[in-house]
Amino acid sequence: MNNLVLTNIKQLIGITDNSNEVKKGSSQGQVHTLDNAYLIIRDGIIHDFGPMNECPSTELTTHDCAQKLVMPMYVDSHTHLVFAKSRSDEMKMRLHGKSYQEIAEAGGGILNSAKKLHEMSEQELYDDAHVRLEQVIKNGTGAIEIKSGYGLNIEDEMKMLRVIRVLKQLSPIPIKSTFLGAHAIPEEFKNNKAAYMYLVCNEMLPRIAGENLADFIDIFCETGYFDLDDLRQIIEAGYQYGIKAKVHVNQFSSFGAVQLACSHGALSVDHLEVMNEEDYVALESSNTIATALPLCSMFLDIPYTPAKQLIQRNIPVAVASDFNPGSAPSSNLNLAFALACSQMKLTPEEAFNGLTYNAAFAMDVKDEVGSIQIGKKANLIITKPANGLEDIPYWFGENRISSVIV
Ligand code: NIG
Ligand code: FE
Repeated sequence: MNNLVLTNIKQLIGITDNSNEVKKGSSQGQVHTLDNAYLIIRDGIIHDFGPMNECPSTELTTHDCAQKLVMPMYVDSHTHLVFAKSRSDEMKMRLHGKSYQEIAEAGGGILNSAKKLHEMSEQELYDDAHVRLEQVIKNGTGAIEIKSGYGLNIEDEMKMLRVIRVLKQLSPIPIKSTFLGAHAIPEEFKNNKAAYMYLVCNEMLPRIAGENLADFIDIFCETGYFDLDDLRQIIEAGYQYGIKAKVHVNQFSSFGAVQLACSHGALSVDHLEVMNEEDYVALESSNTIATALPLCSMFLDIPYTPAKQLIQRNIPVAVASDFNPGSAPSSNLNLAFALACSQMKLTPEEAFNGLTYNAAFAMDVKDEVGSIQIGKKANLIITKPANGLEDIPYWFGENRISSVIV
């Protein structure tokens, strides 16, 4: 709805008057609300809001939100929404005792996704991704970052990024694209990682940047995948084209990637399931955002990101889905919200800011979405009747959304 008045809102949640600074430390736990409120949408933008007794009369259609909460839609700052096929067979392998890394070594994992993606046309990939995106929006996500990384050669990486570009053009929500050529080492480069890195930085990236196909650059920095030297190359190569880095680090091990990413000005470091003292210290003295991915922790049964400790150490935390067919086959941020509270021990307010306001910083859409602020897009969640924000993580695994407005 482009023009609408929401009336009798039981509580309007997530109000800001500017989006100049990311929320960290005690401010991560602060969410401004207004009871018994109205909100006016004009041309799809938040035009005005205030207490119900001051609601002006307008010519606009009215939507009564009695008993219901209204909040900004979630911002999913880390996903792999474009992918080929399900890898549910790998879940079965894991349940028969194989680890994520053993499955990857046996030809499963990211390389398996790349093989399947190679066989699909751009149109088929788009059609599947479009269906997923519609579901994502229904579940309350109002902006999304999407990575490549299942191509692993120039044609297929560009195929993925072109699919993301069409999604961007046709989607009602903001989308950002990330080039993740350094996601896994393709079979033919198994014994020559340096040659693959050369290809990524000197052949793929120039063409991708030349066609304006990537907003960010990423790498899977992990034992058995890419190392610190590769991480440095990726971040620096991105800078040559004015592209900031958002990187996969510390999922299974900690060996200096957080320090390097922070000192090189990465926008975000994502995963962080395994953290040591030096990692915290590096984050404390940087502007890099720490992104927790609780759906991945749940699905792989690996540790949760120590998000509470990060917040206590004054480090801004975002929470995202990591939606992908291998480690997080869910895009449902309502469930991520519940896990952020029940498993990572965040307060509902800390988790909410991680899923909305801070996540908008982590994908450079802070001026468009992520809070109830005049001038931002009116991408809103209207909940089912609820007591307060805590109802969403409380009814975990349930859908407490009555409707979304995009
Ligand atoms: O964020 N860790 C690396 N990449 C993805 C998973 C990729 C896959 O298994 O397909 C992640 O978890
Ligand atoms: Fe990921």
